[in-house]
Amino acid sequence: MDRAQHVPVLAGRVTALLAPALVAEGAVLVDATLGRAGHARALLEACPGMFLIGIDADVAAIEAAGELLAPYAERVTLVHARYDEIPAILGPRQAMGLLFDLGVSSPQLDDPERGFAYAQDAPLDMRMDRTAERTAADVVNGYPAAELSRILHEYGEERFARRIAEAVVRERARAPITSTQRLSAIVKDAIPAATRRTGGNPAKRTFQALRIEVNDELGTLRRALPAALDVLAVGGRVVVLAYHSLEDRIVKRELVRRSADQTPPGLPVPAAAAAPQFRLLTRGAERPDSEEVTGNPRAASARLRAAERIRQAA
Ligand SMILES: C[S@@+](CC[C@H](N)C(=O)[O-])C[C@H]1O[C@@H](n2cnc3c(N)ncnc32)[C@H](O)[C@@H]1O
Repeated sequence: MDRAQHVPVLAGRVTALLAPALVAEGAVLVDATLGRAGHARALLEACPGMFLIGIDADVAAIEAAGELLAPYAERVTLVHARYDEIPAILGPRQAMGLLFDLGVSSPQLDDPERGFAYAQDAPLDMRMDRTAERTAADVVNGYPAAELSRILHEYGEERFARRIAEAVVRERARAPITSTQRLSAIVKDAIPAATRRTGGNPAKRTFQALRIEVNDELGTLRRALPAALDVLAVGGRVVVLAYHSLEDRIVKRELVRRSADQTPPGLPVPAAAAAPQFRLLTRGAERPDSEEVTGNPRAASARLRAAERIRQAA
């Protein structure tokens, strides 16, 4: 298979969860993270009356998806945007399906030019949207040590966040850090020798943390998910695939909150305005089985949650 191909994660499950809401003629699916359109294509195939609005922050993804989805062109609209723009993109329309497959795509990781990969040398970029201003080099060379340390600790769950942040600040005083290899080497030298021998590439967590910061991944999700859920029609379904616990916590909190009765404690009868708007379609988070992970190691950390809209907001 082409190395740049994206193998869609939990594709069968995603289709099975969304398809029941998308069988009606003209039902709209918003794929908020189109990537190489693996999930979108499976749904266009499964639901012949469905229309797709495919969104991606990465122009390269939109261009590639345009070609991949050419056979379905009359049912497809592609938009280069961030997914917090979903309400503006939809306007007065409502969606029957909503899919978020969060994080980076394989083509982004595999293209050394993009600077996501610690294994190959490249400029420290990591922007999903290359029209955005802030790059990983800006973060690495511009943030104070304490802020860098917080990011590495929080977003990378990096035990040696402080040591790495201090090393970065020391090294950038010599010369700005502009390449992935130099950053990898600094991280490697900053952690204790004994831990270097275990647990894969020591720069992995630092790179994940920087990517989350550069793209404001958690802030965008926190803002975008509630707004996106508001565009779902009654009977519409949402599926979210998250790839680390911070992301998944945001998703879980929002879906559980919307699926619970919000009547303040002490009121004798449930308040209509506080009735749940959604029902959960998954119990906890679903994970790929070992067979899928063996075939597609990037699926290993995936957590899937889904819900159905059962009531309009009062
Ligand atoms: C894991 S991939 C999606 C793969 C896709 N489901 C498939 O089957 O090919 C995630 C995609 O989301 C995009 N993305 C990440 N953050 C985004 C955002 N805030 N707004 C829009 N797209 C975003 C990335 O550029 C990437 O192409």
